[in-house]
Amino acid sequence: MKLAIVGATGLVGAELIDMLEADYLPGCDAIVPIASDESVGREIECFGRNWPCKPLALESFEGVDIASFSVGDDLSAKWIPKLLSEYPQIRIVDKSNAFRLSEDVPLVVCGVNDDEIKQSDRLAANPNCTTIQLALAVKPLFDAFGIKRIIASTYQAISGAGRDAISSLKEELDIFYPTYDTSELRASGSAHNILPQIGSLDNNGFAGEERKIMLELPKILGLQNLDVCVTAARIDAFVGHSISVFAKLREPTKLNAVEDALKAGYAIDYLPNDPEVYPTPVSASRPDYDLVQVGRLRPVDVEGREYSFFCCANNLRIGAALNALRIAARINELASGKDAGD
Ligand SMILES: NC(=O)c1ccc[n+]([C@@H]2O[C@H](COP(=O)([O-])OP(=O)(O)OC[C@H]3O[C@@H](n4cnc5c(N)ncnc54)[C@H](OP(=O)(O)O)[C@@H]3O)[C@@H](O)[C@H]2O)c1
Repeated sequence: MKLAIVGATGLVGAELIDMLEADYLPGCDAIVPIASDESVGREIECFGRNWPCKPLALESFEGVDIASFSVGDDLSAKWIPKLLSEYPQIRIVDKSNAFRLSEDVPLVVCGVNDDEIKQSDRLAANPNCTTIQLALAVKPLFDAFGIKRIIASTYQAISGAGRDAISSLKEELDIFYPTYDTSELRASGSAHNILPQIGSLDNNGFAGEERKIMLELPKILGLQNLDVCVTAARIDAFVGHSISVFAKLREPTKLNAVEDALKAGYAIDYLPNDPEVYPTPVSASRPDYDLVQVGRLRPVDVEGREYSFFCCANNLRIGAALNALRIAARINELASGKDAGD
């Protein structure tokens, strides 16, 4: 299988290539790295050979079975419809926001709603990185007890904003460290800061990142009237998004039943309450670790309908490359007539 990786030289693209080498997409033995004009010709190592980067142009997709897009919304919106019409055999996984809420495009978190992908689907959308993590964390509670309301506050790593954001943070830290002069820190800068706005504000004051999570989660869980409220903040952790989650359940439920549901949840590493063990972005982002850490679980009300917990996951893997590869694997199984259940 030949996989085109659009955005191959970015943070998500690099993670995806590492995961291909580790056989996360069985059957894939050839890649076409695609990047901006500045990177054309640059060689990307994968499967024991070097593959030259190609430009984002129709002819670069000749012979491609599946294309993974991790570039911005505008490039996805412009190129994906052209590719689908030019190459009737191609299937696409898009990590941008361009098609996530389109009615005819499945928005998929593998392990949560994989069945949304049908054999006839040629385009599937990968949700926002924080939505994926939140969907995985709440899915066991949703299935076991029903959920009425979710209130989430996010603490999102700088790598979620791409490699230029990491370079800017490094520059800010380089200026600050020789002097420790706090007047060198910018009020709206990333270094040693928390920025409680990711994306532009709408008329109600919600930021773009918050809107994405609030709209995507109900679509993924198949419950359009799910009440979700999010506050999203950028912090200067390098990799690993964190979310403080308050969930109001439909049924009064004992703490140990909530714990059991979380322990049995797909891709969840449940960390029982312990003074020294809890989810952190650093431990959730250790190499080759593909789980969402959930911990600090506590009841909020006396009836047992309200619970709070904290969760962390690697935004570049869980929130992007891993889910995209799992979607690609599912698409490939369906296209080749095999079902995942076979
Ligand atoms: N970072 C995350 O945690 C995360 C999670 C989920 C989804 N996403 C989404 O994934 C996308 C990429 O994220 P990232 O963090 O990998 O960004 P990044 O590190 O900034 O990399 C951007 C990539 O896009 C390529 N690119 C830029 N302009 C291009 C053009 N005109 N034609 C072709 N390629 C072009 C770049 O190529 P050059 O190297 O040649 O410039 C690079 O490969 C974004 O849409 C983001 O919203 C990111």
